[in-house]
Amino acid sequence: MNSQSLVLIVDDEASIRRLLHKELSSANRAVHTAENAQQAREAVGQHPYDVLVLDIRLPDGDGLDLLAEFKEVLPDAETILITGHGDIDSAVEAMKIGAYDYITKPFNLDRLEFVIDKAYQRACLQRDNRIFRRHQQKLQDSHNLIGNSAAMKHIRFLIEKVAPTNVPVLVTGESGAGKEVVSRAVHYNSPRAQKPLVTKNCATLQRELARSELFGHIKGSFTGATENQEGLLSFAHKGSLFLDEIGELPLEVQASFLRVLENKTYRRVGEKKEREVDARLILATNRDLAQEVEAGRFHEALFHRINVFHITIPPLRERKEDIPLLVEFFLNKLAGGQGVCTLSPRAAQCLYDYQWPGNIRELRNVLERSIILSEAGVITEGDLPSEISGQHHNEEPAQNPLRLEAVEQAHIQRILRFFDYNRSQAAEALGVSRKTLYRKLQKYGLDSS
Ligand SMILES: Nc1ncnc2c1ncn2[C@@H]1O[C@H](COP(=O)(O)OP(=O)(O)OP(=O)(O)O)[C@@H](O)[C@H]1O
Ligand SMILES: [Mg+2]
Repeated sequence: MNSQSLVLIVDDEASIRRLLHKELSSANRAVHTAENAQQAREAVGQHPYDVLVLDIRLPDGDGLDLLAEFKEVLPDAETILITGHGDIDSAVEAMKIGAYDYITKPFNLDRLEFVIDKAYQRACLQRDNRIFRRHQQKLQDSHNLIGNSAAMKHIRFLIEKVAPTNVPVLVTGESGAGKEVVSRAVHYNSPRAQKPLVTKNCATLQRELARSELFGHIKGSFTGATENQEGLLSFAHKGSLFLDEIGELPLEVQASFLRVLENKTYRRVGEKKEREVDARLILATNRDLAQEVEAGRFHEALFHRINVFHITIPPLRERKEDIPLLVEFFLNKLAGGQGVCTLSPRAAQCLYDYQWPGNIRELRNVLERSIILSEAGVITEGDLPSEISGQHHNEEPAQNPLRLEAVEQAHIQRILRFFDYNRSQAAEALGVSRKTLYRKLQKYGLDSS
């Protein structure tokens, strides 16, 4: 903690502001002042203060209101209140809503200085903690690579091996198979994890501007280039650049990337000078790049250069043993707010049998939808889209849904499905005798089910 702290003093008395500014400013403490709430708001909007010293009574507002307001804008900053003797109650109130401390007027400068430094230490700790927590969260997200199939185990092994190196990584697989998740895991398990992961989907690059967006440009290099501009690559310096759908990278830009890979240099548009960059490249595509090379749509040398370390994610239908784990993971994650949700055995079987052309993304979407349709926390076959359940929803007789009988009928059907049409179990679950259930099935014309 050797950096300079930034302190804002808010007090309407000019003499106090002058005094504090003079006495508290030092090599490791920069002090700004504001004379009212309005000025304080402007200052807080412009500078990331570490410590705020607020007079509790201001001509245009109340220090307590400001305290609450500033907590939102500067969550890590600590606030110290200055109070007159009559305001002790408000000061105690302020501590309850998150002030660090208060001091009473007339105050002792040494004590104020001491309290400010302590508050600064706490602000730094808080900030470090928050950054650390955010980082941990990202790491954890990247570990949310669910699956215990041999294929997924192998993918985790490859990630662990390649992450610590600087080798470019090519991730391929069908749409929705998890290319982005795997790419992120490479970055967040690498020594570059604390540095930026810059992501760009090449399909969204505009052909004419692609080079400028990636490498930057200098003022006047083309119409519209009114300022010098950095490219995405420079933001990935010391971190990683993830280029999604690399197969869509315009051919004319591909050669420049080869230079990035081979010499770690690039040029901004309109500039002769070569700039250096240290960015790890992670690339993903659902195309067959070898085929693209043959068709003349992908630069051959670039292909060989990025094909050094290749992670292929097999489609979900080729690693079906991952389906139950993924289902459990998504149900926990998605139904979180709505309580627990489970699958009926038949619904689970349908999910297992389906071919999942949209892979894990499709599975996630299907579960999200089914949770909404489900009742009593159980997803049954009927809650699944018909292409997955193999059933057609409109088979259920159309009835006036307001009638109690209609609700009873639907409920019986649901429970029957859940117990795979085992009537004894369904009757027990419904709390009626088998005989009663039979009668109801006859009544509703369900006795053939
Ligand atoms: N192994 C996994 N564990 C948990 N979630 C996963 C896994 N693989 C993919 N997902 C989830 O599935 C969804 C699709 O994954 P992702 O975006 O990585 O696919 P993709 O291969 O990049 O797809 P596209 O080609 O369409 O861009 C995301 O919500 C992702 O979080
Ligand atoms: Mg993707």
